[in-house]
Amino acid sequence: MRTKYCGNVKTSDLNKSIVVSGWIHKIRNFGQFIFIDLRDCTGIVQIIFKSINKLEFMKCLKLKHESCVQIFGVVQKRSKQNKNLNTGKIEILGNKINILNLSKPLPLDYSNSKTEDVCLKYRYLDLRRPESFKIMQIRNNITCLIRNFMSKKNFLDVETPILTKSTPEGARDYLVPSRNYPGKFYALPQSPQLFKQLLMISGIDRYYQIAKCFRDEDLRSDRQPEFTQIDIEVSFMSSTKIRSLIEKLIKKIWLKILNIRLEKFPTISFNQAMKIYGSDKPDLRNPMKIIDISNIFIKKKFLLFFNINNKYKNKIGLLCFPKGSEFSRKNIDKYSNDLKKIGLKKLFYIKINQRELGINGTQSSIKKILDDQIFQKILKKTNAKDGDILFLIADKETIVNKYLGILREKLGNDFNFYNKKTWKPIWIINFPMFKKNSLGKFSSVHHPFTSFKKNHEKNFEKKPELSLSDSYDLVINGYEIGGGSVRIHKSDVQKKIFDFIGINKKLQKEKFGFLIEALEYGAPPHAGIALGLDRITMILTQKNNIKDVIAFPKTTSATCLMTNSPSELKMSTLKKLGIKLSN
Ligand code: AMO
Repeated sequence: MRTKYCGNVKTSDLNKSIVVSGWIHKIRNFGQFIFIDLRDCTGIVQIIFKSINKLEFMKCLKLKHESCVQIFGVVQKRSKQNKNLNTGKIEILGNKINILNLSKPLPLDYSNSKTEDVCLKYRYLDLRRPESFKIMQIRNNITCLIRNFMSKKNFLDVETPILTKSTPEGARDYLVPSRNYPGKFYALPQSPQLFKQLLMISGIDRYYQIAKCFRDEDLRSDRQPEFTQIDIEVSFMSSTKIRSLIEKLIKKIWLKILNIRLEKFPTISFNQAMKIYGSDKPDLRNPMKIIDISNIFIKKKFLLFFNINNKYKNKIGLLCFPKGSEFSRKNIDKYSNDLKKIGLKKLFYIKINQRELGINGTQSSIKKILDDQIFQKILKKTNAKDGDILFLIADKETIVNKYLGILREKLGNDFNFYNKKTWKPIWIINFPMFKKNSLGKFSSVHHPFTSFKKNHEKNFEKKPELSLSDSYDLVINGYEIGGGSVRIHKSDVQKKIFDFIGINKKLQKEKFGFLIEALEYGAPPHAGIALGLDRITMILTQKNNIKDVIAFPKTTSATCLMTNSPSELKMSTLKKLGIKLSN
């Protein structure tokens, strides 16, 4: 139905007869001529029909935007070049048009900013936009690169089941009722975690899969209920080696897609990341670091002033922000109130107007306890300059880190620190093995198949919060784009972890019996990682929402506006599945 794609018609085609097919992007009637901009997935080409070609001209008069047509014509030089189009030097003199399918007026206007709901309802039309197509192309290029890379490194692409048993990745499962076994359910995989581990026991050695995962959790701009992972597992490989392999893959993607050469990725422990950035996904485009000035305020009178409870591990920390001169009292109060709204007790500040005047050259909410000696110590520690503002928090260490981390992000956003063309990857390693909830119950920080870091298994029950795991997350520009770990490959250790996090023996057998048994058949040491394909595509295409890079995404309340799913089922269908609705 075509001999050329619209966007590929070139000056080398001059005087040639060609056939193009696509959609009417624009149509302009000048009486004697009609100009059509015809669009397909490669771009736009201009076509001109003259009124002397009466029959075809009449057909053109019936055309509506976005109708699908096939056009026969001859390539000719344009009288006036259009520099905005790749095909701007030529046009096609149309001699015949076949209207393949007329279009109704579109419910969405491509040239206007549209409401999201309409776009999602008519996602197939939204995808017609060249910008959407470009994103799908980039996504395809990324997956091709990944497949190529993995295959060159001898990884085997193995598919794992979608109808399966739940794996605990921290979210709720999507469940599928079984018709053959009424009252029983499959779970859609939150990730292929257990299957990939089993494949290591099978001797597959190097596994990867571009895998669909399903998680019923609260959605955010970088989360979808149904998303895609680049899932990887390797036997006999250390965490450093895995990270280096993934670093190569990511560098390759950035080079091929953006022509950007990434430097070696820095590595930082989880504990350090929390201390310095107040976050386990720090955006390093923001140069601010949390500075610990607890040593300057050790005297009792200071602790009293800051109302610090000595029972806890405390910290007095600060952020030195270089644009302090732009801060009015009102601005400072705004940041302080924003943080108070989410639980902070107090935000202190010191605005440095003129260092050389000592405390007389400052405005501060800790004036009462600030003397020149302390001020000089703070200056030395922070290297603060005239015009800087210091934001201080004094509290439990975890609270100080958390709120200074949030403030760091806020300031970074408000003062445009986040240049979309700068790339700052970082590995966060050695996460704690366990976290404690408000009821004192422990759970795994990664998943419960994560191995201890060397020497952290001994006596872990005595100080569980201090034991670390051999785990790693990859963060780029503040987004967690991947996470993984070395796995437990001994069944006794696995059982010990299940016991510790409160999965009783019965439940262990019922839920993970197959894994525990499999680990007893000479399971090799193994490790792996999963990268979020959607998130990688989102940041590479500089989109702020993951929906933009998924062909058919769900809304934030996990519905599909196009197909109207989820939807109700007939009573008879529910009956066959043995399901009774409670209302
Ligand atoms: P994790 O749960 O950290 O690890 O997931 C790995 C990566 O998948 C992406 N991701 C998501 N992307 C979009 N929407 C979501 N709802 C979503 N949830 C996660 C993130 C994340 O870093 N089985 C382990 C991996 C392993 O240990 O090998 C796992 O799934 O980019």
